[in-house]
Amino acid sequence: MSTKLSVNLNKVALIRNSRGANLPDVIQVAKDCEHFGADGITMHPRPDERHARYSDIPALKEIVKTELNVEGYPNARFLNMICEVVPHQCTLVPDPPGALTSDNGWDTISNQSMLKEICDRLRDNGIRSSLFVNPDNSMIDGAKEVGADRIELYTGPYAHNYFHDREKAICNYREAAIHARNIGIEVNAGHDLNLDNLNFFISQIPWTAEVSIGHAIICDALYYGLQNVIQMYQYQINK
Ligand code: PXP
Repeated sequence: MSTKLSVNLNKVALIRNSRGANLPDVIQVAKDCEHFGADGITMHPRPDERHARYSDIPALKEIVKTELNVEGYPNARFLNMICEVVPHQCTLVPDPPGALTSDNGWDTISNQSMLKEICDRLRDNGIRSSLFVNPDNSMIDGAKEVGADRIELYTGPYAHNYFHDREKAICNYREAAIHARNIGIEVNAGHDLNLDNLNFFISQIPWTAEVSIGHAIICDALYYGLQNVIQMYQYQINK
């Protein structure tokens, strides 16, 4: 099974919101990403809707033909919207409302009862659940315990340390991904992945089910264009 590339469109929504009209059109960009070879579309509405809006999610569900992954902090508004729209996957992140970006995984042990209740609700609604976690075996055990289908490994520290010592940077990610595989939970990965560090990550953890990448894809698209960039990322995944 090859790793799927889910393109996170939050940055596209951020540019749209900066002018108040509908340019760029997130829905058209999602369609184009799929046409250019993306395996999925990700969006992460935050309570202040500074980039993705809650209303983007049902509109995306209407048109996405691959897989729609919606990320977010599971407050009541988010969960009600998710259960109404039924995306293919819901990735739960522990961000407090004002967070600039997701920069830490769940404590799956201290939040056990809440996460179990939410994962049960997602399953009952036919939605695959994924929990954003650091590469820490006890947190992965906790994710399994609450019934999550997948974990998403928070790859910020991997990306940060990659240029300094990539073997060292991947070490605990590989161990965590092996542990996840051994206990029967699938592995996604995301945050700060880019054209430099993506291939090494996949070569070391080829059973990664999905990577979700936003910031770097949009930055690279300024120079190379979105169509080229999606193909360049697919090349890094599959070479
Ligand atoms: N995964 C999660 C949970 C995120 O919050 C984000 C950022 O929205 C990403 C992946 C994508 O990170 P990046 O934009 O750095 O590629």
